[in-house]
Amino acid sequence: MTTTVRGVVSPAKGSPVEIADVLVPDPGPGEALVRVQACGVCHTDLHYREGGINDDFPFLLGHEAAGVVEAVGDGVDEIGPGDFVVLNWRAVCGRCRACRRGRPWYCFNTHNAAQRMTLEDGTPLSPALGIGAFAEKTLVHAGQCTKVDPAAKPEVAGLLGCGVMAGLGAAMNTGSVGRGDAVAVLGCGGVGCAAVAGARLAGATRIIGVDIDDRKLRWARELGATDTVNSTETDAVEAIRSLTGGFGADVVIDAVGRPETYQQAFYARDLAGTAVLVGVPTPDMRLELPLLDVFGRGGALKSSWYGDCLPSRDFPMLIDLYLQGRLPLDAFVTETIGLEDVEEAFAAMSRGEVLRSVVLL
Ligand SMILES: NC(=O)c1ccc[n+]([C@@H]2O[C@H](COP(=O)([O-])OP(=O)(O)OC[C@H]3O[C@@H](n4cnc5c(N)ncnc54)[C@H](O)[C@@H]3O)[C@@H](O)[C@H]2O)c1
Ligand SMILES: [Zn+2]
Ligand SMILES: [Zn+2]
Repeated sequence: MTTTVRGVVSPAKGSPVEIADVLVPDPGPGEALVRVQACGVCHTDLHYREGGINDDFPFLLGHEAAGVVEAVGDGVDEIGPGDFVVLNWRAVCGRCRACRRGRPWYCFNTHNAAQRMTLEDGTPLSPALGIGAFAEKTLVHAGQCTKVDPAAKPEVAGLLGCGVMAGLGAAMNTGSVGRGDAVAVLGCGGVGCAAVAGARLAGATRIIGVDIDDRKLRWARELGATDTVNSTETDAVEAIRSLTGGFGADVVIDAVGRPETYQQAFYARDLAGTAVLVGVPTPDMRLELPLLDVFGRGGALKSSWYGDCLPSRDFPMLIDLYLQGRLPLDAFVTETIGLEDVEEAFAAMSRGEVLRSVVLL
């Protein structure tokens, strides 16, 4: 049996997205059918539409979502109908080398649904990041459903499914920000502002937000930046050094992902500081650094995929902190929109007008 729902499909490279009827199979063994309530618009959805991820068109977009489990397949016992869940793209396998070594956030064999959702004519859809949640219902692996406190609003809870988790985790997990640290965040979009909020939650006492757009710097201050720098007016490295007594920051997070911002991150660190790359570069980008500086400045150069999160550990904890008023997730929801507004939301994102547009269903 299948259910027919409306979904946002990216039909071909560079073409505008379309609303289409999507056939969603009943859940098979290990799978779950989820009624989507909210799904944020992430930069990665736009990358898919532009052919920047792969060529497996048509895509069913959307991957930053929360909803209610409607049905589960055989062998699923950790979740059931009625559970409020955040969808994740890291359903760890428990068996690969990374999982067996106790580092499941590096799992390289994560689970997705085995059955495919299709268009009405049977054309299989590729769900973005194995989720496909710009749709009234979606089919995922049960491990992609993380139960959280249903007191959280769906449009807020869903944020943890991708960008906000990536930023929070870049600071809290990958960067291991600690009490009293000085942290700088380059690029204060949704991911960078989440890194600012994560640094505050972790106890950093100086948090410097850097961007080329003053609107983003205002949001960064709201989320906990103690200082902000517009790097079109002021040299970012010099500014970060002078705000840290001439030393540089303990942790610098690059939430842009360009050679020039990475170079700033590299030099804006204190001796033996940590640089974390969470922004995603494109294949043509190259970096040249004096190897003697890599040696002489010491410290750690790290990358952060999905904030090194473990959904089962991090999502419920972060939702609890949100409900206690200690993590201002509401501030990330700039606007709520309908399924038919995704194309316009991409344009607003490109113009820098939003931290997050969230589709409500
Ligand atoms: N590592 C992960 O798991 C993960 C997950 C989600 C998103 N991302 C990536 O994180 C990056 C940021 O995503 P986002 O949703 O915040 O995007 P966004 O477009 O909302 O934010 C990017 C910000 O960078 C600023 N910026 C651009 N060039 C700059 C420069 N030279 N110096 C300083 N600031 C600059 C922009 O003004 C904007 O505020 C993207 O590359 C995205 O693909 C990574
Ligand atoms: Zn694994
Ligand atoms: Zn995303």
